[in-house]
Amino acid sequence: MRVLEDDLFPSTPGKVKIERAGTMNRQLHRCFASTSTMFLWALFLVAMTASYLSFQSFVDTSSKYFAASWGGLHWERQIRASAAPRRPPGSAAGAGMSVLVTGAAGFVGTHCSLALRKRGDGVVGIDNFNAYYDPSLKKARKALLSSHGVFVVEGDINDGRLLAKLFDVVPFTHVLHLAAQAGVRYAMENPASYVHSNIAGLVTLLEACKDADPQPAIVWASSSSVYGLNDKVPFSERDRTDQPASLYAATKKAGEEITHTYNHIYGLSITGLRFFTVYGPWGRPDMAYFSFTRNILQGKPITVYRGKDHVDLARDFTYIDDIVKGCLGSLDTAGKSTGTGGKKRGPAPYRIFNLGNTSPVTVPNLVSILEKHLRVKAKKNVVEMPGNGDVPFTHANISLAREQLGYKPTTNLDVGLKKFVKWYLSYYGYTRGSKNFRQ
Ligand SMILES: NC(=O)c1ccc[n+]([C@@H]2O[C@H](COP(=O)([O-])OP(=O)(O)OC[C@H]3O[C@@H](n4cnc5c(N)ncnc54)[C@H](O)[C@@H]3O)[C@@H](O)[C@H]2O)c1
Ligand SMILES: *[C@@H]1O[C@H](CO)[C@@H](O)[C@H](O)[C@H]1NC(C)=O
Repeated sequence: MRVLEDDLFPSTPGKVKIERAGTMNRQLHRCFASTSTMFLWALFLVAMTASYLSFQSFVDTSSKYFAASWGGLHWERQIRASAAPRRPPGSAAGAGMSVLVTGAAGFVGTHCSLALRKRGDGVVGIDNFNAYYDPSLKKARKALLSSHGVFVVEGDINDGRLLAKLFDVVPFTHVLHLAAQAGVRYAMENPASYVHSNIAGLVTLLEACKDADPQPAIVWASSSSVYGLNDKVPFSERDRTDQPASLYAATKKAGEEITHTYNHIYGLSITGLRFFTVYGPWGRPDMAYFSFTRNILQGKPITVYRGKDHVDLARDFTYIDDIVKGCLGSLDTAGKSTGTGGKKRGPAPYRIFNLGNTSPVTVPNLVSILEKHLRVKAKKNVVEMPGNGDVPFTHANISLAREQLGYKPTTNLDVGLKKFVKWYLSYYGYTRGSKNFRQ
């Protein structure tokens, strides 16, 4: 389960830049040390470094300032325009909804926001554009959204004042909460980021939702990782979820309990979605299919994990368009929240659904599909998975979502990866372009 969201290359923002600057200084020194004016050069370098540093800190503060700057009439007008439903009059689907999408510049958030906008619903996004993976990809997604009339606020879900302001400006009917610290291994490097976004941020968001009048219905992303060390497959919603194998999984499990509390006390309508390994165009660079593609194209070896007794690992890979349909189906069927003024007026729905594909594919099979579409052979480095009780495969039971959401995945891994590779090549190019990764 730990490799569900495989972050083979956790980012260490800033590290590379510092090393590069150090080498440059050293080279400059070597060049000019022989002349008698070495002292002057040293002085010059010190001055340059000082002015560079002060410029850097100016850039830092100003970007922080701009990131935190929201509000004002123009800003509110942009929010309102973006939030306004534009369904064709008389359309069967009704008046349309106004959805606040958190994590809108993320992989799933971008696709859901676009799908909502395209069918005429109003969408406002919020994202903090953190550097867990290349923020320029998030900026590119934001630009895509902007070209379709979706406005994304740059802000953190821990900013209660910003959230209150957003609900003040727009009576959101729904919140699609996708902002989170994702990734499984990165939790060992930066555990606090999981508490910050997945626990504290979730509570701040729920507080804003329960205070809002009217209260929105909430659909949010949990994860298949809550099934933890279970070995009964397929995973069904009623199976136990009390043995998580990572801090990430534990924070998602906590989210399911925390949302239950807000449902119980304040009457918030809650739908939790347990996604199974989502992939596709505009995907996440920290996931295995993505980093495999990058390495295969660069001629670098990839690390393929194998389970105990040489059993291949398998994952229930789910194509992004299918996940989007599940998210929109959840929004469409979410019952209303019942509270007003922070008080519950009656019971509100609390639902949990698996969103998977139901046909697990082994990792070596994933690699050969990638090789076919990339027309490059992979250099495989097969290593044994550390034996700590990881399940050899994930497999979703989706009968509940099928029954209640009309959820029916239609894209298999071969077709889905073909679309991913097409996007990858158009976005990054065939060679290791400058837009490639820092880590
Ligand atoms: N992709 C998968 O396979 C998968 C599987 C299971 C669950 N999920 C869950 O689905 C959701 C979406 O995942 P994704 O793959 O699109 O990930 P993503 O990292 O691409 O998107 C998450 C977005 O949230 C933003 N964000 C993080 N913390 C924030 C904060 N405190 N305030 C504001 N914005 C913040 C990030 O900048 C990012 O753009 C997440 O909750 C994730 O845990 C994803
Ligand atoms: C799948 O889940 C449903 C409940 O949603 C359950 O009735 C059914 O037995 C499960 N199927 C399997 C094979 O576990």
